[in-house]
Amino acid sequence: MSLHLEHDADLTALNTFGVPARAAMLARVDDAGELPGLFAAIAGQGLPWLALGQGSNLLFAGDPQGIVVQPVLAGIAVTGESGGRVRVRAGAGESWHGLVEWTLAHDLCGLENLALIPGTVGAAPVQNIGAYGVELAAFIGAVEAFDVGAGVLCRLEPGDCGFAYRDSRFKREPGRWLITAVELDLPRDAEPVTGYAGLGAELAAAGVTRPDARAVFEAVCALRRRKLPDPARIGNAGSFFKNPVVPALQAAFVRDHHPDLPCWPAGAEHVKLSAAWLIEHSGLKGHRIGDAGVSDRHALVLVNHGGATGAQLLALARHVQDTVQARFGVALEPEPVIIGAG
Ligand code: EPU
Repeated sequence: MSLHLEHDADLTALNTFGVPARAAMLARVDDAGELPGLFAAIAGQGLPWLALGQGSNLLFAGDPQGIVVQPVLAGIAVTGESGGRVRVRAGAGESWHGLVEWTLAHDLCGLENLALIPGTVGAAPVQNIGAYGVELAAFIGAVEAFDVGAGVLCRLEPGDCGFAYRDSRFKREPGRWLITAVELDLPRDAEPVTGYAGLGAELAAAGVTRPDARAVFEAVCALRRRKLPDPARIGNAGSFFKNPVVPALQAAFVRDHHPDLPCWPAGAEHVKLSAAWLIEHSGLKGHRIGDAGVSDRHALVLVNHGGATGAQLLALARHVQDTVQARFGVALEPEPVIIGAG
């Protein structure tokens, strides 16, 4: 079956926060050829729609409107090689971490710092996933997507994807794109990126002096397992806030009062501040409002202790934003997509 429709679908297991939500209609598509017909029908009924991968970067503050479309397009294959890089094409429905493991098993490197990031391949370019000093955008050869406005399948070159820190054209133009596959250009051999704070120390502690991609992969997995709550055990969507990028002058002012605040350069005139540090030093690490909580492991992660609703998690997020704003004068922006906030 290449298109499967379900009425009044329960989305609780389809979002990693594990909050209750329902879709009037859920469409699972495992063949991109079905998309023109499906979206013609959606447009014909004037319905809004939402793309859903594994629901690892969204918060259902309420039920989504219209139809939820889940591309379960499968397949990973080498499709070419040029300029010393191997092109790998992966279907949008594949698991991201599964793809990272596949590339390492095929002696390709580059993605090892992005190990264990929850979610699907199709969701990865939307927020330009990044971790431990590496961003997905560095390896994108092309993104294949259905252009809902034009009703056609197309292929976007990296320069057309508008990638930025935790951002892309796909995120900025909601309702226009459904990603169907991602093409990556990966080296067979490259100097691993080990400069990110904590990663070098993790490798040293494991006794690794000349790390290869496999060693970096193992170290990243160990770090993430230790520092981040596992969504399989306690509902969460990874970092709930972006690290705020502020003018250098503002950063200097805040750091004048708080010299321990970690920060990183972001272009010539801006500085990226650690949102986790700001939240922790607002006294909110481990804070709970009912079952909606700030993780006691990592202050940037909001968690569902069991019975939280999306609306309660959103109320907690607003409390965090207000508290950090009042204490440090810095605005925090949510990273996940918030659905049905009304
Ligand atoms: N810190 C605190 N309190 C905490 C946790 C961290 O003060 O509870 C401070 C520490 O001083 C630490 C600094 O924050 O040095 C940075 O922490 P970390 O290395 O964990 O990185 P992050 O900036 O908080 C970002 C990404 C993560 C990614 C890590 C590692 C964003 C929004 N988040 O977090 O991505 O895993 O770097 O590269 O950029 C995600 O996007 O879902 C995600 C988990």
